[in-house]
Formats: sequence, structure tokens, C-alpha cells
Amino acid sequence: MKKVTVVGAGHVGATCTDVLAQKNFLDEIVLIDIKEGLAEGKALDIWESAPIKYFDTRVVGYTHDYSKTEGSDVVVITSGVPRKPGMSRDDLISTNANIVMEVTKNVMAASPDAIIIIISNPLDVMTYAAHTASGKPASQVFGQAGVLDTARYRAFIANELNVSPMDIQALLLGGHGDTMVPLPRYTTVSGIPVTELIDKEKLDAIVARTRKGGGEIVNLLGTSAWYAPGAAAAQMVESVVLNQNHIFPCCVRLNGQWGEKDVYLGSPVKLGKNGVEEIIEIELNDDEMALLKASSQHVRDVMKVFDDMNLL
Ligand code: 2OP
Repeated sequence: MKKVTVVGAGHVGATCTDVLAQKNFLDEIVLIDIKEGLAEGKALDIWESAPIKYFDTRVVGYTHDYSKTEGSDVVVITSGVPRKPGMSRDDLISTNANIVMEVTKNVMAASPDAIIIIISNPLDVMTYAAHTASGKPASQVFGQAGVLDTARYRAFIANELNVSPMDIQALLLGGHGDTMVPLPRYTTVSGIPVTELIDKEKLDAIVARTRKGGGEIVNLLGTSAWYAPGAAAAQMVESVVLNQNHIFPCCVRLNGQWGEKDVYLGSPVKLGKNGVEEIIEIELNDDEMALLKASSQHVRDVMKVFDDMNLL
């Protein structure tokens, strides 16, 4: 029995559930939300698409009944409010920190062995909050953002070169915010270094657009994105449940990599059945290292804001 719970039936949670159901490798997905009827309604709607989309993963929804999430292999936490135009992800901390910590405790009571994947913002600090609330090893509580951010980066490169986005392999480090560090030196197009195909000025513009990729959607829609975030979360779940050992950039607690300790930052990791099987400390040049350090300092500043809230 392979079972996944998605907490939060907003746009991201529902999209993640829908994409996971269509991948058709799970027995059951439980969608859960605090708002009466929301998870039930979305789960039912997704399940009613099964005969058309050809999947048989059971999708069920419940209002705040964590007993139904018992025995989950993976739990995806999307709970909290999204940002509105003019807000940074960090502005969400006071609302979302309490929510993420309470949800984590509920999830842990029902599924103490589950791997926990955080999607809520501000992502890096919500991963810190959930990890602390869970009492689990850091390898079992990690955050999404790099799969999403590299997807945006790869999509922009595909547009620039008029090639398939599937041909683009890319890496990105740092926090999920404007200080994130896309790495053109570690980006290839079917094995060809991207730096041979796109000139520096255009690549710099793509990197800048990637950094503000979430904000671009917020400005267009008035709320934050869901299709790419939901699909990115589903891809991480798949790598864990099927023990695929994909290397994805994920938000993890660093333990000395790049001279950084006890900070939650996007890094390349191997994702398998135990969660983070390995953090891969790639070699960085001086410029890349300086950007990583700036991103780390930014995340540490927001972690301090969380610490000062005294929720632990
Ligand atoms: C984003 O970047 C929601 O933070 C997410 O779109």
C-alpha cells in the first residue's frame, strides 16, 4: 500500500494531487484541509476525472481529520496563505509559521514514519519550522523550491533556444527567493554547456527572470503560482516513493557543506526512499560562492525572525 497525504487543498495542493494521481503509482492520496468541504470537493472532482485520464489511484478528501492520513509514506505540506502583489515570501512568516508547525504535529501523530515535503512559504524557514516541530532527522523533512525554480529556468532557456525543455539539465542553489543562485556553469542542453549556446548578457537576463519567476506570476494572477509548484512537488514525491534516487535541488539543512551549518538552503540532493540520501557538495567558483553566502545570510536573517517568534 503506497499512500501519500497532501495537506492544503488550495491550488498547489490540488494540482499536486491531480498530477500525482495521473502518475498512477500510488494506491491512495488523501487531501486534507481545514476549510469545510474543500478537500472533499476537490478530491471528488479529481477522482471523477479518473475514467477519462486513465488512473486508478484512489483520491479522497477530508476536513481536518488527520486520522484518515494514518500510515502515509510521504506527506506534502502546502498549508498557509499565498502572497499577493507587492509582498515578498518572507512577509508570510507570521501567518504561516504557526500553521505549518501545527500541521506538522498533526501529521506526525498519524504518520510518524512519513517523509515530509514542505511547499509553504517562506519556504526555507518553513522547512526549518517543520523540521523542528517534527523532531525527525533532517534527511526526512525537506522543502521543494529548487525543482520549481530550475523548471522555470529551464523553460526560459527552452524559449530562448527554441528547443525542448526536456533537453535542459540545470542546477540551482540557495534560498527560494530573489537571492537564489541559478548556476549557468552547471546547465547543459543535451550535454552542451549552455554558456556555448547563449551569450552572457542573455543568460544573465534569464537568471534574473528566474530569480523573480514566482513574483512574475503573482503580478499576472494576483496570487502565487500552482501548476509548476504542484507538478514539482509531485516529481519529488515520485522520486521518494519509487526510490528513484533522482538528483534534484531541494531545500535541506546543511551540515557543513560550503562551510554552512544549520541553515536550510537549496542544494543538489539525491532523493530516494529515505528522503535525502545524500547532499552533493559541488565545487563553486568565487562568484558562485559569494552568491551562495549572500543567500545563506538572507535565509539566516529570516530564520532569526522565526526564532524570535518563540514558537518552539
Ligand atoms: C512560487 O515561487 C509559490 O513560492 C512559489 O511560485
